[in-house]
Amino acid sequence: SNPLRLGIAGLGTVGIGTVKIVQNHAELLARRTGRAISISAVSARSRTKNRDADLSAYGWEDDPVALAKREDVDVFVELMGGENGVAKASIEAAIAADKDVVTANKALLAVHGQELAVAAEAKGRVIRFEAAVAGGIPVVKALTEGLAGNEIRRVMGVMNGTCNYILTRMENAGLAYAEVFEEARQLGYLEADPNLDVGGIDAGHKLSLLASIAFGTKVSFDAVELEGIGRISIDDIRRAADMDFRIKLLGVAQMTGRGLEQRMSPCLVPADSPLGQLQGGTNMVVLEGDSVGQIVLRGPGAGEGPTASAVMADIVEIARGCRVSTFGQPATSLADPVPAKATAP
Ligand code: NAP
Ligand code: HSE
Repeated sequence: SNPLRLGIAGLGTVGIGTVKIVQNHAELLARRTGRAISISAVSARSRTKNRDADLSAYGWEDDPVALAKREDVDVFVELMGGENGVAKASIEAAIAADKDVVTANKALLAVHGQELAVAAEAKGRVIRFEAAVAGGIPVVKALTEGLAGNEIRRVMGVMNGTCNYILTRMENAGLAYAEVFEEARQLGYLEADPNLDVGGIDAGHKLSLLASIAFGTKVSFDAVELEGIGRISIDDIRRAADMDFRIKLLGVAQMTGRGLEQRMSPCLVPADSPLGQLQGGTNMVVLEGDSVGQIVLRGPGAGEGPTASAVMADIVEIARGCRVSTFGQPATSLADPVPAKATAP
C-alpha cells in the first residue's frame, strides 16, 4: 500500500547513514508506519565515489534540484549542507513541486528556516529538521510534542560536540588549546570551516532553532550573543577546576521581561552537575517547562548513526501522516522576537 518514496541528496556521513537505516530496517519501518519506505533516487557530487552502501537499485541525479522535482519522490531529504546555494535551491524546488522536506542543515535553517517553513506550509507541505539540533537527541520532538502543554521557561545546553571534546581534552590531558585543536582537526571532528565549531556559530545556529520552537518566535540567529572557545587557556581551565567548576560552551535561551535572551558562550558550571560531568563529543540539552520542571537530555550530537537516527524519525513522522510544523505551531504565526541583551545594561 502507498509507499513513501524518498529522494536523498547528499551521500556523506549522514546521507549514507540514512540509506543504511532504510535498507536495514525496512520491515521495522513498514510495521511502525503501515507503509513501505523506499528510496527512488539519490544525488551527490561524485557518481563514481566508493560509498559504504549499495546504491545500485536507486535512480541517480547529478543535480539535486532535478532530484527534488522527480515525480517518484514524495519526500526530499537534503543532507548536503551549506547555508545557501544548492541546498536552499533544491529545498525550494522540492516545496514548489509539492514535496515534504527533511533536512539536517542547521546553518541553512538558522538563516532561512522560517521562510522555508512558511513556503512549505503554503503548499500544505512540511519541512522537518530533528537532526539539525543535537544530532541523535530527539530534542525538537521533546519540545514540540512531549512538552507541548508547557510554557517553556528556559532552554540550555552543550550543543557542539567538537567544542566539548576540545575543552574536556584540555582539562583531562592538561594540553593547550592549540594542541587539542590540531588533534581535533586530525581526527576529522572539525567542520570544513573550523570557526563554525570553535567560534560558537554552529552551536548558536542550533540554539536559535530551539529558541524559536520553545518561545514561538521567528528564528533569530543574528540576535544570539556569540563567543567561542578560542580564547580559553589551560590556565582558565585549571583555575575553574581549582574551584570545582568546569568551562563549557553553554547556550542559554530564555524569555525575560525585556525580551528574548539567547547567548552561546564559555560558562563556568559546577563540576559535579550534569553539564559539568559531560565528557568528550556528547551533547546535553536542558529544558525547563512550567508544569514539568526540568528535563535533561544527553546523547550523541553527531556521527553517522545518531544523526541518521534523527533524520529517520522525521521520515517516519511524515510516513505516519503527521503534518504538524516542526516549529510546533504554524510558521506564519511565529512572533517577531524582541531581542534582549543577556547582561543587564
Ligand atoms: P558530508 O559528509 O560532507 O556529505 C555531504 C554530501 O553532500 C556528500 O555526499 C557530497 O557529495 C554532497 N554534496 C555536497 N555538495 C553537493 C552538490 N552541490 N550537489 C550534490 N551533492 C552535493 O556532510 P555530512 O556530515 O553528512 O552533513 C550533511 C548535513 O548534515 C549538513 O547540513 C550537516 O551540517 C548536517 N549534520 C551533520 C552531522 C554529522 O555528524 N556529520 C550532524 C548533524 C547535522 P560527494 O560525496 O560526492 O562529495
Ligand atoms: N560540528 C558539529 C559538532 C557537528 O561538533 O557538534 C554536529 O552538528
